[in-house]
Amino acid sequence: VELEALNTLHVPARARFYVEVESAAGLTWSLEWAAKGQYETLILGGGSNLVFAGDFRGLVVRMAIRGRSWERVVDHRATLVLGAGENWHEAVLYAARAGYRGLENLALIPGTAGAAPVQNIGAYGVELCDCLESVTALDRTTGELVALNNAECRFGYRDSLFRHTPGRFVITEIRLGLSRNKPLALGYRDLQEYLGDTPDSALNALDVAEAVMAIRRRKLPDPAIIPNAGSFFKNPVVDVAQFDSLRTQHPDIVGYPQEHGIKLAAAWLIDQSGWKGFRNARVGVHNRQALVLINHSGGSGRDILALAEEIRKSVEKRFGVCLEMEPGIVAGAGSL
Ligand code: EPU
Repeated sequence: VELEALNTLHVPARARFYVEVESAAGLTWSLEWAAKGQYETLILGGGSNLVFAGDFRGLVVRMAIRGRSWERVVDHRATLVLGAGENWHEAVLYAARAGYRGLENLALIPGTAGAAPVQNIGAYGVELCDCLESVTALDRTTGELVALNNAECRFGYRDSLFRHTPGRFVITEIRLGLSRNKPLALGYRDLQEYLGDTPDSALNALDVAEAVMAIRRRKLPDPAIIPNAGSFFKNPVVDVAQFDSLRTQHPDIVGYPQEHGIKLAAAWLIDQSGWKGFRNARVGVHNRQALVLINHSGGSGRDILALAEEIRKSVEKRFGVCLEMEPGIVAGAGSL
């Protein structure tokens, strides 16, 4: 099966076997089938956060479990339950149109509901973990479905339990705690600039979702038109001493204080290293957001990874800061 249309970087790759699963039972069955044949498995959502470095010799399982429903609708609060295969952005609009707040800042993030907790998607001052109540996941070590609450998911910046236990859990469903009257999160600078003087009381969740969509469309390439995988690196966190010494050499360096250290803007580091808008014959760096790598024309996963490596080296050389890749790499495994 060709995977080119199933990854948002549109790099060519093939899978030896491929299945779309629409239920937890189908998932269990597919994984058992792969185990019997001793095939490796790859769980795929929207394909927006991974790079195929080559073909995949095992079974690709595309999560297509659908379903959107409401639970525990009490007063102003309600829990939105999403099947892992639901499109994330459509779910954000669905909640906002119903008048529920919590997801609107996360509009237009590519991918599926089931993938959202893995990297704890975040944008414009909100992270998924701010409203996630629990996930249901298949624990492959026991074959049982388990519920993991917010604390058990061990969320961090672009991080969760699922990144530290690769292959163990497959998320089948997520539960999000939303509210009709909680304050909107309007603090992120881009949002403030966009909304201008509009008083918060005049805005609802859908207005904020629409503002976020407009801001993202200005800066970030639509993967349906220009193949990309969103931010290619995490924003690195350095300690205060390193930040101070960087600031003496680079007075305009962008940093946001965190609980432990200062989070630098990777986009700024890459931009300052001269990469913004760079392109070679096949791949390049977006000209409006230096954190986004683009497959301009027929690039392979290896082309993208080679460019990422050059960027990483040049940022390290200039600033002494090591960038960590955000998307996962699916290693190629020879011929199928
Ligand atoms: N900047 C530059 N050059 C650029 C782009 C940005 O110098 O080419 C500077 C900006 O001036 C700004 C700073 O870098 O001061 C941060 O830029 P921005 O607000 O665009 O946010 P970011 O830190 O680059 C993060 C997320 C995005 C998310 C935005 C908005 C990560 C790795 N990325 O980007 O997430 O949309 O904040 O909240 O945390 C994604 O994960 O795919 C993604 C797009």
